[in-house]
Amino acid sequence: MDRKESATKKLFVKTYGCQMNVYDSQRMQDVLAPLGYQSVDDPAGADMVILNTCHIREKASEKVFSDLGRLRKHKKAKEANGSDRMIVAVAGCVAQAEGAELMRREPIVDMVFGPQTYHRLPEMVARANRAMGFDRIIDTDFPVEEKFDHLPDQVSQQGFSAFVAIQEGCDKFCTFCVVPYTRGAEYSRPGPDILREARQLVAHGTREITLLGQNVNAYHGAGIADGDGAEWSLGRLLRELAKIDGLDRIRYTTSHPRDVDDDLIAAHRDVPKVMPFLHLPVQSGSDRVLQAMNRKHDGADYRAIVEKLKAANPGLALSSDFIVGFPGESDKDFEDTLQLVRDVTFIQAYSFKYSPRPGTPASAMELQVPEDVKADRLARLQALLAEQQIAFNEACIGQEMDVLLDRMGKYDGQLVGRSPYMQPVYVKGLSEADLGRIVRLKITEARPNSLGGELVEGSGSERNVA
Ligand code: 5AD
Ligand code: SF4
Repeated sequence: MDRKESATKKLFVKTYGCQMNVYDSQRMQDVLAPLGYQSVDDPAGADMVILNTCHIREKASEKVFSDLGRLRKHKKAKEANGSDRMIVAVAGCVAQAEGAELMRREPIVDMVFGPQTYHRLPEMVARANRAMGFDRIIDTDFPVEEKFDHLPDQVSQQGFSAFVAIQEGCDKFCTFCVVPYTRGAEYSRPGPDILREARQLVAHGTREITLLGQNVNAYHGAGIADGDGAEWSLGRLLRELAKIDGLDRIRYTTSHPRDVDDDLIAAHRDVPKVMPFLHLPVQSGSDRVLQAMNRKHDGADYRAIVEKLKAANPGLALSSDFIVGFPGESDKDFEDTLQLVRDVTFIQAYSFKYSPRPGTPASAMELQVPEDVKADRLARLQALLAEQQIAFNEACIGQEMDVLLDRMGKYDGQLVGRSPYMQPVYVKGLSEADLGRIVRLKITEARPNSLGGELVEGSGSERNVA
């Protein structure tokens, strides 16, 4: 065999943005592994570099262009010393939204492909390798069903906590958001395919699965292989997944308030494996702004959903996303957001200044809010959210929590895991052999972003697979 063909090739993947991109990056690595590509953590000398990009806010997109600038020297250096070329690829939502512009602005980019085309990567790479730099490739189709059908069946080992994409795209068209344009129309994977992927992960040691989707609770996958032609809701899927022995924890993200149905609420009551922590973006507390955002719910709807969820599971806690400075947001509208935060309480949250995205309806709205007003509102909102997060963490002191240990800490004998509420929890006196155990810890320390705990004697459940 040709020496070059058999040699391992170095692949550097950089992921920006959401968990769906983290998942997609893993799948790209799975697709390229049979071609001899092995992941490295430095772009210098790599045979292929993939930037898996995010377009959700302006800052995220800008980072891609500055990283491309830095890559130029790596590409030149590799090609100057007589080695093979470095293929530079831009994937993800910037690729989808600005593919042609990217190619024009950045001559070092050999390949641009959108989020629905990763299964075609081997073919694109072969073409790029043959092309010697002349045939630049752009693929921004939306064959989403094909993507899920053609990605390799054998998923790579993802560790004790793993992601599974169950739906992609969004039909909600919030007026600020690029997702319906970059990820396309809503598509749900068939339930049995998801169960198969979950079982494979569990067989490789995974104990916790986070179901991913841009609008995950719009999930309505076919349940055909079960002999049951009806569509599965997310509630049904959670119940089916909970039957898998060795799968101990199930989460899902990101949800839309409008798609929280009674079946899903009941799953939070009936299925102990469904963790009592829910990321439920509200964006704003002002009905006027929510309407202009086309969120299809108002503040009262959101409060009512939270009430129902907490009635189903009193231990349930929430996180959320907020946008401040949406076009036309007045001081009073912003006060309504603060009031909603005070009323509902969130144990964790992400908040952003509104960022006009090209092609979205809100970017063309009048009454754009000045930058300094946005910054001031963001600071006030974040102070309130931080207060609530700290209060929750402090209230954990003295409580016992089940923690899935999934990484080593900085110090000897220190391990880190996740509480049911996703807080990182640090514990001493354990060893690498304890990774993958779910242990009961008594919480002794609270910090703004983490907890410290001590082992409760005789606790813990073993891993499935060594
Ligand atoms: N500007 C600011 N924040 C945005 N988000 C989405 N689009 C924008 C935008 N144009 C935020 C929302 C969403 C999260 C993923 O990103 O809060 O829930
Ligand atoms: Fe974007 Fe979420 Fe609205 Fe869909 S529901 S348009 S992904 S913010």
